[in-house]
Amino acid sequence: MKVARAVAHPNIALAKYWGKTGDGQNLPAVPSLSLTLDAMSTTTSVEFLPGLEADQVIINGGAATPDEGRRITHLLDRVRAAARLGERASVETANDFPTASGLASSASGFAALALAATRAAELSWDAAKVSDLARRSSVSAARSVYGGFVTLAAGTPGAEFLAAQPLLDGHDWPIAMCVAVTTLEKKGVGSTDGMAHTRATSPYYAAWIAKAPELFERARRAVVSRDLEALGACAEESAFAMHATALAAAPALIYFSPTTVAAVLCVQNLRREGTLAFVTIDAGPHVKVLCYAADAPRIRAALREVEGVREVIVARPGSPASLAAGERALGRDFA
Ligand code: PMV
Repeated sequence: MKVARAVAHPNIALAKYWGKTGDGQNLPAVPSLSLTLDAMSTTTSVEFLPGLEADQVIINGGAATPDEGRRITHLLDRVRAAARLGERASVETANDFPTASGLASSASGFAALALAATRAAELSWDAAKVSDLARRSSVSAARSVYGGFVTLAAGTPGAEFLAAQPLLDGHDWPIAMCVAVTTLEKKGVGSTDGMAHTRATSPYYAAWIAKAPELFERARRAVVSRDLEALGACAEESAFAMHATALAAAPALIYFSPTTVAAVLCVQNLRREGTLAFVTIDAGPHVKVLCYAADAPRIRAALREVEGVREVIVARPGSPASLAAGERALGRDFA
């Protein structure tokens, strides 16, 4: 049986990764810590078929662009090499949320693809090996293989293997993330190009690389001690330090829109009024707000009043990537 279907959730970094080691191995230059979100998901099916001349990829019901197709074929080539498989694959993937605009669709996408492809190829890899495979296509995808709070160490040049690690599933900690969606457009500058540009031209890049490990360690300790205030403060410092570094690139890399700034001010206002709410922003204009689950309805209502906010998705800690119903017939439970 050379077919499998997997589901994975996006994750949002609270201690950000921005920058690669630069040795061509897609290794992150800094450690990161994220939260996997239950409210959004990517479902991907992979079937290796005799007779196909090339991989066929459908994303959200339409043919993949040549660029998207190439990235997917790269991952499939690694799986084919490991499984000694010659067959090309038919891949179908769909997100139940906006694709490629800083909502972490590459994280859930490559995590689901890595799991579905390895299972379709009948490789019995553990979660760490699947995470490492996903990481080679999209660093943040390594983290979406796991649920809840997840860490990913910085890469060491020369050491090729790097997988994420689960830190806390988060189910017994009543926290939530409100995702304020500010656009349905695809993002302008993808994260890989944005990072390379920042590394090459930003005078603050070295300062960011020096600071990020300390922010990561503070975030890790805050999660372990379930300290929302400490984690939130750290998440804001990490996001704004990352964006300040990108803003100082030449020409400037601006991921914020006017709505991004308005949503951040709205959250600062809520905090002044006594609600524990903290923002983070990725390589796109959306604003994600970490809070207690009990406060999420109030925060969602406030964010919906911000001009330009299209919708607010409330998420709780999500589960690890998994094989879709029926696929466990392969006889190997995953993660
Ligand atoms: O996973 P990538 O290589 O597309 O980069 C993701 C970068 C950020 O989302 C901005 C930060 C992070 O750690 O997820």
